Amino acid sequence: GTALKTLAEAKGIYFGTALTQSNLSNSTITAIAGAQFDMVTPGNEMKWDTTEPSNGSYNFGPGDAIVSFAQSHNMRVRGHNLVWHSQLPGWVSSLPSNQVQGAMEAHITTEATHYKGKVYAWDVVNEPFNEDGSLRADAFSNAMGSGYIADALRTAHAADPNAKLYLNDYNIEGQNAKSDGMYKLVSQLKAQGVPIDGVGLESHFIVGQVPSSMRANMQRFTALGLDVAVTELDDRMQTPASSANLAQQATDYAAVVSNCLAVSHCVGVSQWGVGDADSWIPGAFPGQGAATMYDNNYQPKPAYNATATAL
Ligand code: XIL
Repeated sequence: GTALKTLAEAKGIYFGTALTQSNLSNSTITAIAGAQFDMVTPGNEMKWDTTEPSNGSYNFGPGDAIVSFAQSHNMRVRGHNLVWHSQLPGWVSSLPSNQVQGAMEAHITTEATHYKGKVYAWDVVNEPFNEDGSLRADAFSNAMGSGYIADALRTAHAADPNAKLYLNDYNIEGQNAKSDGMYKLVSQLKAQGVPIDGVGLESHFIVGQVPSSMRANMQRFTALGLDVAVTELDDRMQTPASSANLAQQATDYAAVVSNCLAVSHCVGVSQWGVGDADSWIPGAFPGQGAATMYDNNYQPKPAYNATATAL
C-alpha cells in the first residue's frame, strides 16, 4: 500500500518515528523507517546524559548519526530534548543552585547551536509537570523557580531562531489537571512574548484509553496560536497480545490520527519506535508491550492498516 508518510503529506502533516543509534545497524528497522516515515526523533541520542556527560564536555556523535540517517532519507528531525529531569547526568543535579542556570543556558546554547538548521523542532523542556498540574520539583525548578522554562525557551530561540520550540509532556493528551497546568503555563508564556511554538502530546496510551477529550484539548492549545504534535505515540497492552486488544489498538491509532487531522495546526504524529521489538514499553512496563504498528517480526499489525485508512 501507500506509505504512511505519503498519505500524511497529502493531508499536510508528517508521520514520524523514534530511532536510536543501535536501530541504525538493523536493516529491517532502517528499511521501514526510510520507507514509511518522514520525521525522526532520536530516542536517546540528544538527551543531556549523552550530549554533555560531564560539565562542558560535549558528545554529539550519536545525535549526528541520527541526523545523518534522516538527511539521507529525506526525513526531518525533532530534537529531543534540551532540558529534562530524567537522563540528566549527576553533575547537573549536584551543582550548587547558583550554578544551575549557567549550566542550563550553556547546555542549550551549545546543543542548539550544534544542530542549528538541522532540526525542525526542539523539545526544549520535557515533562515539566506533575500529575496535579503543578510544576515538577527538579534541579531546574529548585534552582530557578518556574522562570526556568521561559529562560530555556529564550536561550534556545537565540541559538536557533528557526527551530520550532516545544514543551512536551505525557498525560496531557486529554483535558485534565495536568493539561490544565500546561495550558495555563503556555497561555502565560504567549502573553509575555516568550518564544514558544508548540506543545507536544507524548501519547503513551493504554489500549482503550485514548481520552475522548483529546481533540478538544488539542484545539484549546491551537486556539492560543500554538502548534500541537503527537510526539511519542504507542498503545500498550498485556503480552502476549490478544486479537481483541489488537483490534482495539487499531481503533485507538485511527482515533489519534483522526484527531490530528481534524485540528488545524496539529502538525504531525510520531510513533515512539518502529516496531514492537524495538519499543521501550516492555523494558519500562514489565508484562506489557505490543504497543506499536509493527509486530515483533516487523509485520504490519491491524493498527498499521487502521492508521493508513485514517490518513
Ligand atoms: C525513553 C527511551 O525510549 C528509552 O530507551 C530510555 O531508556 C528512557 O526514555 N518520554 C520521553 C522519552 O520523553 O524520552 C522516553 O524515552 C519515553 C518517555
